[in-house]
Amino acid sequence: MGEEVNRERSSGATPVGAAAGPETVPTTIEIAQGSAVVHLAAPKDGGTTLLALLAEEPEIQVPAPCGGHGRCGKCAVLVNPDGPSRPEPSPADLRFLKPFRLAEGYRLACTCPVSGIDRVVAPPRDRSAFVKSEVPHFDAPADVWQEARSEGRFAVAVDIGTTTVASYLFDTESGEVESVVAEMNRQGVFGADVLSRISFSERAPGNLEHLSRAIRAQLTEMIAALAGGRRPSPGMVVVTGNTTMLHLLAGVSPSGIGRAPFTPAFTECRRLPSDELRLGNRGSVILLPSQAGYVGADIMSAAVAVDMDRDPRTTLLVDIGTNGEIALSHGGTVYTCATAAGPAFEGATISSGVGGVAGALSRWSRSGDVFSFDTIAGLPVVGICGSGLLDLVASLLSDEIVDETGRIDPPRDTPAAWQPLLVEVDGAPAVRYAGGYYLTQKDLREVQLAKAAIAAGIEILCAEAGIETASIERLVLTGGFGNHLRSESAVRIGLLPSLPPDRIVTVDNAAGRGAVLTLRASGTLDRIKKLALQARYIELSGHALFQERYVEQMFFPEVDS
Ligand code: FES
Repeated sequence: MGEEVNRERSSGATPVGAAAGPETVPTTIEIAQGSAVVHLAAPKDGGTTLLALLAEEPEIQVPAPCGGHGRCGKCAVLVNPDGPSRPEPSPADLRFLKPFRLAEGYRLACTCPVSGIDRVVAPPRDRSAFVKSEVPHFDAPADVWQEARSEGRFAVAVDIGTTTVASYLFDTESGEVESVVAEMNRQGVFGADVLSRISFSERAPGNLEHLSRAIRAQLTEMIAALAGGRRPSPGMVVVTGNTTMLHLLAGVSPSGIGRAPFTPAFTECRRLPSDELRLGNRGSVILLPSQAGYVGADIMSAAVAVDMDRDPRTTLLVDIGTNGEIALSHGGTVYTCATAAGPAFEGATISSGVGGVAGALSRWSRSGDVFSFDTIAGLPVVGICGSGLLDLVASLLSDEIVDETGRIDPPRDTPAAWQPLLVEVDGAPAVRYAGGYYLTQKDLREVQLAKAAIAAGIEILCAEAGIETASIERLVLTGGFGNHLRSESAVRIGLLPSLPPDRIVTVDNAAGRGAVLTLRASGTLDRIKKLALQARYIELSGHALFQERYVEQMFFPEVDS
């Protein structure tokens, strides 16, 4: 069933990309995405881009991992599908889009001027986030819970990730989680990673407001969906997330986090009245405390959720996202750091990479002459996501098709099954992993950069604690990507240290569990606050050993013979 919406917008959204020439433009542009159809008023001078026009339109979501800089090639839309007039391809169009797609009418939304466009078809939107939604259950009475009960029958715990937002609804009388909702973070249209969003927030007056409005509107809708029309609406809301996400929710500029010395405007626990953020709840909103610009409340709450502040075992917590956030507990001290891993594992810098969406190739393996792979939701391949990427690279390393320097260099005795998959793309070796989808040499370099940053961060924390990585007794993987990767593949490519499999566990959304625990288990908020104050934060950018370890970790582990 189509849904038609008319938006009157005379000035367009704040420009995200290059401006267009002042040509005659139609008064409205019809934008279709799946069953949704909206009509947007185009600015009279045409001086904006399609992505900018769409930036504030909640019905339409076009991914823009590079933040509209024309660097990722992921924001293609079909322009004037009935032809014939279309804007000339931009240099970014020519770089990222194949000639047949250009001929069909595809253009990158971030470089496409709105002039002369009357109809746009955006690729189907995938709002669902593939996170597991197991509901944690706790028995202990809670202090914050008592407060939450006084504020309403229902309370909400939220984890705002850069990619995914997860929300849990509590019944404060029964103490049970009633429902869980997880969605892709709608700020994704402003950039895939924290730095892109900080950069967007600084690019024009009003952009910070766009980002704040986007996440507040999303939370308001999620809370309403969780409540399912119950009256009265939920009371208390407890929010965890990375430091930048909490700034954007609060409407506070994250600029300080974007450049050295990466100082956030606030890290302390904040309690805000419901009318300040207007999320549709009736009680207070608690923002959990962060530790540093890149070690946020999400890591603090995750560390407490897996008992790193109490469990005597040497524990490594790794949250692999666009930043690799790492915590290590040893001998009563918790050490933390963050590495700029980049969004390779979320698909943004991989030529055919996608996030965890339906159709993403998420598993890959070879058995004899037979390759097998899985896609999310079992749909036809639309690209490769992080877990599939790790499996594929691990398989290429194990069969020595990729050497330890990351070069695609198949030996003479390459297993026959690989032969038809080893091809050239633009004159360079590549691997065709499905249909018309390829892993290129450049993609492998991106994997090396990302894995080296995380592996070096782990080594530095172990060095600070005075231990070898082999001494880690428990390795906890969490985060949207961490939940899904195969630890054998992560170890094979050297992303994680080589540990016995039984020491590696995955915990589904540990940060969200920490927010849940805050509502439900006595003393959790105090534990998180204490950890944020007492953990030892290691700044890697100025660390004497980091660069050396990072360069070493660019190599893949050699094949065991
Ligand atoms: S190329 Fe358009 S958002 Fe990245």
